[in-house]
Amino acid sequence: MAREAGSPTCSAVEEEAAPTWRLTAMAKERGECVVIHTQNTRKTSLIQDLQLSMAREAGSPTCSAVEEEAAPTWRFIGEFEILKQQRCRRVYSKKGSKNDLGLFFNKEDGTFHAMGAWCGHMGGPLYEGDIEDYKGKAHVMCPWHAYMFDIKTGKSDIGLEQSTYIVRVDDGKVFILHSNPLSVNPYL
Ligand code: FES
Repeated sequence: MAREAGSPTCSAVEEEAAPTWRLTAMAKERGECVVIHTQNTRKTSLIQDLQLSMAREAGSPTCSAVEEEAAPTWRFIGEFEILKQQRCRRVYSKKGSKNDLGLFFNKEDGTFHAMGAWCGHMGGPLYEGDIEDYKGKAHVMCPWHAYMFDIKTGKSDIGLEQSTYIVRVDDGKVFILHSNPLSVNPYL
């Protein structure tokens, strides 16, 4: 036992105790919630190992805790046959209304397109606009001042540009690639 003069005390020895897993970071990987743990074995915090593990251990943060910072993933929006009945539609973001989208259906070619809900001019609600043919291409017409935005690129011919998002139709279901949860119904 460490009882001689100059010997390390028990508290000093304690720092060299068996390593434990410590939460150091969180991430989204392939749509699954994961927690990054590091195993420290010295008080100098030398990281000897790094491991990704599923967030299943007691006390681990839940997926919802990291959801807001997640990488984009496919968000189910609704059934194609139902959504196509409305050409312009608001899609709500769980992160707040400023992140809402407009979902637009081009009945000419049967495609959906998504862009930021609020017009880059003065914030008009594009999802209350209309789809018009403009210079031979489908455009969203803003209901406030009638500026036109290309339904595919989000660009207007006056230099404004909306953020656009990839829409996928798979087995009759519509998805938008986005980093936040989305819904055609408001979040309460
Ligand atoms: S707010 Fe959209 S054109 Fe002015």
